[in-house]
Order: sequence, then structure tokens, then C-alpha cells
Amino acid sequence: MERKISVIGGGNVGASCAQYMAEANLGDVMIVDIVEGMPQGKALDLTQAGPIRGYNCKIEGTNNYKDIKGSDLVIMTAGLARKPGMSREDLLNMNANIVKIAATNIKKYAPKAYVIVVSNPLDIMTYHMFKITGFPTNRVLGQAGVLDSTRFRAFVAMELGMAPTDVQAMVLGGHGDTMVPLPNYSTVGGVPIKELIPAKRLKEICERTRFGGGEIVKLLKTGSAYYAPAAASVQMARAILLDEKKVLPCSAYLTGQYGLKDIYIGVPAVLGAKGVEKIIELKLNASETKELKASAAKYKGVLKEIGY
Ligand code: NAI
Ligand code: 2OP
Repeated sequence: MERKISVIGGGNVGASCAQYMAEANLGDVMIVDIVEGMPQGKALDLTQAGPIRGYNCKIEGTNNYKDIKGSDLVIMTAGLARKPGMSREDLLNMNANIVKIAATNIKKYAPKAYVIVVSNPLDIMTYHMFKITGFPTNRVLGQAGVLDSTRFRAFVAMELGMAPTDVQAMVLGGHGDTMVPLPNYSTVGGVPIKELIPAKRLKEICERTRFGGGEIVKLLKTGSAYYAPAAASVQMARAILLDEKKVLPCSAYLTGQYGLKDIYIGVPAVLGAKGVEKIIELKLNASETKELKASAAKYKGVLKEIGY
């Protein structure tokens, strides 16, 4: 196929990304992992599903970063996943090292690629990827807001017994407990959710969204979520590769928007052929602004821990 997409990390999120990407016929897929045989095995398995699932793209696996050569887009999922009792920040140093290895190789072998970071702690690893690749900020972005808002959408749909696809929701801020769900910018079929769900219940749904990742970690016991995270990442990849100009919340580099600068944090952005083409500044009320600033302040502190 004309396009090439590399997925770094062939674990739960990476393999699911490869599957969704193939099913969406977005391009040929290269899966990179350090575990010998694993990415090759998963790629072969996915290739054999193609005749049934209706895709013709090439899917390959490798243990060698040089095979990402010429990629149009890279999804970075390599890293350790959270175990019960572990915070995303616990993963900081181990994942920073893995991101450094990947970023150095992306810079070397795929210097023109768009890079979607998924590895946690997300907003920090996205900044780290941007710094090490030295790529322009429109080409480096992080996946979190699409996942956090699809969780919010699913919970609202479950509450109301209405079609999940009719629920639109917005979640800003860092990918962690400081995220900022925005009921003021969330609707069902155009009807504000505040008119459909009583305030107390809506607050509970926002809390469940905030801790949505931890809820799944507790249930799975051996790792974290991957179907929804992969679906979210592939939606972003598709928006860029097909120049969809989709408005999606994603971790993007701010240069003064929302009163924040030199930080990656979740904001709504227009994604198209030039990556992050525009950041949309929503009008926030005083408490939403305070929450967003608190989230940013927390992540500025974490950036310092890895030397920024
Ligand atoms: P996993 O453990 O299933 O897969 C991670 C893979 O990375 C493993 O196969 C491992 O061998 C590989 N790996 C480690 N070092 C590598 C290197 N230097 N180069 C290439 N591959 C390497 O974990 P899972 O569930 O796929 O999660 C991956 C990451 O994504 C974690 O950091 C997790 O916290 C994060 N995550 C982020 C989400 C988000 O919304 N931003 C959602 C879900 C997970
Ligand atoms: C999640 O939110 C672990 O960040 C991952 O599921």
C-alpha cells in the first residue's frame, strides 16, 4: 500500500492498534518490539485474519528499529503498563528510557513521520518524544483525550440508555486523575447532558471517567486497558492520514493557549494532513480553568523529575 504505519511495542495496545489499522485499510503496518519472535508472530497471525476480515495490507513484525524506515506515521505504545496499586507516574523513569530509545530511532529512520504517543505517563512522554526527536510540534501529539472522552461518552450512554455514538463529550487536561471532564461541552444528539442527567449523578459520572483507567486495571489485575486506547489512537491516526480535519481532544503542545506554555496537555485540536493543524480554545468557567491549570502545574512538576 502507499502508506506505511509503524507501531512501536507489540503488546496489548500495540497489537490492537495494528489490528484496527489493518481493518481500516490505512496502510501497511510494521510492528516493532524487543521480544524476539513476538511481533513477527502477531503480524503473521493478523495477516492470516486478513482474508476473513477483508484487508489486504502488508503486516510485518520486527525486532529491528531500522525496519520503520520511511514510515508516514508512528504510534508509540512501547512501555510498561500499570499494575494494580501503581500510579502512572510510577512508570516515569522506566518509560522515559524506552521513549528515548524509540525517539532516537524514529528521528534516524522515519524523520518525516507524524508521531502519536500512547506510552504513560502520557503528557510527559509526549513532551519527551518531542524533545528527543526535535520534530515540529504539529507532528508530535499524544493520545489520551479521545480515550478519556470515549469513556465519558460510554458512561453517559449507559446512564441514559441512549446510543453511545450519539453522545459527544469533551475531556481536557492531563491523562490522569487531574483530567477535566467538561459537562458544559457534552451533549446527546445536540441536547446538553446537564439537561438530561441530574447534577449529583453527573458529578459521579465525571469521577468515574477520571478514574476510568484505574477501574480497568483493578478488574484485569495483570495490566491496563487496550481495546479503547487502541481504538482512540487509530481514530487519531486516521484523521491525520486521511486529512479528515477532525476535532479531537489530544495532548498537544501549547504556546500560550489557555494561559499555558511549553507543555503538552489535553486540549481540543483539529487533526488533518499536517497533524495538529489548530488548537481550539474553549471558553472555560472559573472552576474549569482552575482545574486545567492545576493539572498543568502537576505535569510541569513531573517534567522536572526527568530533567526538563
Ligand atoms: P504491554 O506490556 O502489553 O506492551 C508493551 C510492549 O512494549 C511490550 O511488548 C514490550 O516488550 C515492549 N517494549 C518494551 N521496551 C521496548 C522498546 N525499547 N522498543 C520496543 N518495544 C518495547 O503494555 P500495553 O498494555 O500495550 O501498554 C503500553 C503502554 O501504553 C504503557 O505505558 C501503558 O501505560 C500505556 N497506555 C496508555 C494509554 C493512554 O491512553 N495514553 C492507554 C493504555 C495504555
Ligand atoms: C488508561 O487510562 C492505562 O492510561 C491507561 O487505561
